[in-house]
Amino acid sequence: MLAIDEKTITDAALDQMATTPNPRFKHIMAALVRHLHAFAREADLTPEEWLHGIKFLTAVGQKCTEFRQEFILLSDTLGLSALVNSMHDRRALEDATKSSLLGPFYRNDSPTLPLGTSIVGKGKSANTVIYGRVENSAGEPVPNASVEIWQPDEEGWYDLQKLDPSEMDLRGRFYTDAEGRFHLRTIAPTGYMIPMDGPVGDMIRAQRRHGYRPAHIHFVVGAPGYREVVTAIYLTGDPHLDSDTVFGASESLVVGINPNDPDSPFPDLQSIRFDFRLASLAGEATSGRVGADPSQILQKAAH
Ligand code: BEZ
Ligand code: FE
Repeated sequence: MLAIDEKTITDAALDQMATTPNPRFKHIMAALVRHLHAFAREADLTPEEWLHGIKFLTAVGQKCTEFRQEFILLSDTLGLSALVNSMHDRRALEDATKSSLLGPFYRNDSPTLPLGTSIVGKGKSANTVIYGRVENSAGEPVPNASVEIWQPDEEGWYDLQKLDPSEMDLRGRFYTDAEGRFHLRTIAPTGYMIPMDGPVGDMIRAQRRHGYRPAHIHFVVGAPGYREVVTAIYLTGDPHLDSDTVFGASESLVVGINPNDPDSPFPDLQSIRFDFRLASLAGEATSGRVGADPSQILQKAAH
């Protein structure tokens, strides 16, 4: 009989899982076990410390609701979401807009709105136009592309974080016109702190990190035959562009606000222009979303 000890345990666990019929699941679980064991060895983890880790992960799960996804926040703050996004971008066969984090505040069911509509709710007025084009890797327009947008308000809160999280605000879905163009009206967001009232916030404070995300606006852009792009645009001048707590901000996604733009569809408003580039799908069936609508994750977990 094999003596189970510090040296033999990793192979013993891998041997036992070798019967896994699904090859991809087998590969992923074997890599996970190898790296988890290597992590425990490198950290020289004590039982007390691992129990602390288990309590932390339990608290992360317990913080999740239909409107809150603490595990996505953990993945984001560890840089894992940004890494998975970068690897997803690398698999594209053509040049496309760089991915950025979906984050924990995405919803599948945002309202479809006509081009030019304001996404600002409840009697507040829009002061900014966002416009641009969706194009393919040859620079040709992609008509009828879906452009989903969501963002926080001027104080840094998303609708999902407010008193009645079922009410939608500052989100919508637009479809590009025959020339691949889109435009909508909104407000310019400010930077904000990631949700700090849960176990991930405790971790961030214990690490003496500031917890801020630079000002940004989220997008999911897609069209039949093209790879969906999950991204965000980041506003020039934000002090946290180089130290985003979740590593989403990146050079090619930074844009300025133009106070006087004669090309804007609403020249009286300040404007942000951004063109999205989509790579063709090339037979791939997997999604590039690191994250999901929190309510959908909860439904899937229940079944
Ligand atoms: C966000 O941009 O919505 C976000 C992303 C990651 C963590 C927290 C917030
Ligand atoms: Fe955000």
